[in-house]
Amino acid sequence: METWDAIRARRNVREFDERPLPGEDLERILEAGRRAPSSRNWQPWDFVLVTEREQLKQLAKVWRGAGHVATSAATIALVLPHTGDAGERDRAQYDLGQATMAMLIAAADLGIGSGHAAVADQDQARRVLGLPDDRYAAYLIDLGYPADRPLRPIREPNRRPLTEVMHRGKW
Ligand SMILES: Cc1cc2nc3c(=O)[nH]c(=O)nc-3n(C[C@H](O)[C@H](O)[C@H](O)COP(=O)(O)O)c2cc1C
Repeated sequence: METWDAIRARRNVREFDERPLPGEDLERILEAGRRAPSSRNWQPWDFVLVTEREQLKQLAKVWRGAGHVATSAATIALVLPHTGDAGERDRAQYDLGQATMAMLIAAADLGIGSGHAAVADQDQARRVLGLPDDRYAAYLIDLGYPADRPLRPIREPNRRPLTEVMHRGKW
């Protein structure tokens, strides 16, 4: 897919078909995250790749909006260090957003659907993922081929119009 098509085709996919994802595609998606820019190149993230069905089902219990993780072909847990420093926390969230988007676009480029899930129950996430005490699961990115229809550029996305979002020169 062209980059512009991949950007326009990405959407949250919450129902996946049964096909597993090729290992080299998963590696490329993770590599896209690894290459993401971050503040002073500190790369605060770790990525835990989960593909085993029972583990995916347990991971899906971390939040009531995470049910789709259970049926994904693979899920990447985005892991950050705990910090008491608010500035560091903000930078880590911004950086993780960049890594996330790089992975979502890399997935869309391969025709692979992706979804997000927040993590409410950190104890469950820690149990399922075996995280050390100084880390937490910030978000989950679930992946798989879409069950409904293949990814295609979306003509009219459900978004505020550019004329409202964009300000030229001043607010
Ligand atoms: C930070 C963040 C957290 C999200 N958490 C969830 C979630 O817990 N469960 C879910 O089903 N979708 C979640 N989403 C997906 C959003 O609802 C979705 O991106 C938004 O509605 C726009 O739809 P689109 O991605 O299809 O364009 C999350 C998205 C982001 C960026």
